[in-house]
Amino acid sequence: MRVDVISIFPDYLSVLDLSLVGKARQRGLLDLRVHDLRDWTTDRHRTVDDTPFGGGAGMVMRPDVWGLAVDDVLDGDAAGTHLIVPTPSGEVFTQRHAESLASAEQLVFACGRYEGIDARVAEHYRAAGVAVHELSIGDYVLNGGEVASLVMIEAVARLIPGMVGNPDSLVEESHGAAGLLEYPVYTKPPSWAELEIPEVLLSGHHAKIERWRRDRALERTAARRPDMIAALDVAGLDKHDLAL
Ligand code: ADE
Repeated sequence: MRVDVISIFPDYLSVLDLSLVGKARQRGLLDLRVHDLRDWTTDRHRTVDDTPFGGGAGMVMRPDVWGLAVDDVLDGDAAGTHLIVPTPSGEVFTQRHAESLASAEQLVFACGRYEGIDARVAEHYRAAGVAVHELSIGDYVLNGGEVASLVMIEAVARLIPGMVGNPDSLVEESHGAAGLLEYPVYTKPPSWAELEIPEVLLSGHHAKIERWRRDRALERTAARRPDMIAALDVAGLDKHDLAL
């Protein structure tokens, strides 16, 4: 997969050299390129923004500069490319977005600053056949799209085949197919700070452990994310679940 990130603060993305994403780049699984938007400016001051039409506070990023940048980084035809515009006014990014973006040929992240990017940029690329996603990582406001892009790149990159050492670790996690948060996990030592691990986990009884884990996942999800419980498909529950 190729990933391009365009920002006026390319150094913000330097952490993409580290950890899982960094290793994927070294192994050639991920062709990740970070660009400075100001490289596409044409004036002496390298201007990327201007005042909003209609008035109001703040500055808006200019569509002409963004157009030159995105045109340059687009690889091949529009069909396999997704243009992602992180914005607090976007649809909320979820694991479902991560899953669907993991099979894309190219992702282009357009990191806005100030009051955002002129709305014609998204409109223009949509009309050109590019899949444009205006996405928010949550109901709070950041100073720009850089951190949101890091979040989305990590969520997508770990789903690319060959990225995670043991793909089984992707099966049972929170926000997976079960629609539940993950159960609590424990490791050695079995006794720590006068706290013992739940006995069932030492029983070696596979079915009992499965049942215990599912109950804890249901309990935790009900306490922390009632919206996820409300969205559960009743057909996917068993009679023991309903007893909770
Ligand atoms: N830019 C500023 N705030 C953001 C958010 N919550 N999600 C995505 N991009 C943003």
